[in-house]
Amino acid sequence: MMIPNIYNFGAGPGCLPAEILSQIVKDIPDWYDGMSVMEVSHRLPVFVELTQEIERDFRQLLSIPEDFALLFMHGGARSQFAAVPLNLLHGIQNTNYLLTGHWSELAFEEAKKYCHPHIVASSKAENYTQIPDPSTWVVNENAAYIHYTDNETIHGVEFPSSSLITNRIGKQWLVSDMTSNLLTKPIDFSPFGLIYASTQKNLGIAGLTVVIVRKSLLGKAHALTPSVLNYSICEQHQSMYNTPAVFCWYVLGLVLKWAIAQGGISTLSALCQEKSQRIYNVIDANDFYICPVVKAYRSRVNIPFRLQRRELESLFLHQANELGLKQLQGHKTVGACRASLYNAMPMKGVDALVEFMQEFAKMHA
Ligand SMILES: Cc1ncc(COP(=O)(O)O)c(C=O)c1O
Repeated sequence: MMIPNIYNFGAGPGCLPAEILSQIVKDIPDWYDGMSVMEVSHRLPVFVELTQEIERDFRQLLSIPEDFALLFMHGGARSQFAAVPLNLLHGIQNTNYLLTGHWSELAFEEAKKYCHPHIVASSKAENYTQIPDPSTWVVNENAAYIHYTDNETIHGVEFPSSSLITNRIGKQWLVSDMTSNLLTKPIDFSPFGLIYASTQKNLGIAGLTVVIVRKSLLGKAHALTPSVLNYSICEQHQSMYNTPAVFCWYVLGLVLKWAIAQGGISTLSALCQEKSQRIYNVIDANDFYICPVVKAYRSRVNIPFRLQRRELESLFLHQANELGLKQLQGHKTVGACRASLYNAMPMKGVDALVEFMQEFAKMHA
């Protein structure tokens, strides 16, 4: 089997479209007036205009309503594990957390420093292979918000729809970590108070965190909130309270233009569905590969799988790597294999992986 290209299935930092890498190489020596984008002041009109264009593109792509602010912050998604309670408690001490994998558990642990997070439900006892049945959830009705992770990057569990939660909890604002699946599907913003995502998966490279927050929730941060984590301060300074991550912001701009050129969210969403289905079809074809996640909650973006004959896993990963199918190993906490299919993964890469998985299974059946 011959694969002429390198396909990067890493979970993050994830792959970038080849066109964007070429554009970056072209821009680096002279983005503006003989200087690279990394060297110009973020106060120059040319950079400010870029950030305004990025905001317009983001709003257009996701149809973000005007009553939401769009912030570009430092610190990765993990900083939001603290920033969310610090900004959104508004004097209430109770919060709700749904635990469906590694990242929602870490968000819950961090929140304990600032409030009394209540576990609505947890699938930890099932090794985070499903979303607990909503009829078993215990919701604190007097909480500031309910936090959940829309797509668990390590465990490969994704909420099929936010209505799974809203049907169960009524009026509380949803707060969602969409680090690994923002820009892979349309979003109905009506039940959301806040959505956050760091940028190293579907939005470019590490170093920036996007926060989409309902404006009515701003202005009431806890007095001890560090200024760099304060949403209102960030908004008042157009996301430039401290020197912004200019290069990451610029790459995000290229990614958004690329996403629009692909056909926007409806196209990206259909592609995401199709790419993951092709991999799940191979996994489900026989017992050679196993995906531990309950079918209804399988992620369209990160697919964890193992081999029935576990002794073959290292050979599988080694041969895949030799063929150019890179970074298929699972996260260190769960092992085995994982294929991440971010927007930048072309269908050709998915088909190459499908072909390899089928041939490997035939060879070792
Ligand atoms: C769903 C999710 N949340 C949070 C994080 C942490 O992101 P960061 O490393 O940008 O803080 C990750 C990282 O992979 C993630 O996948």
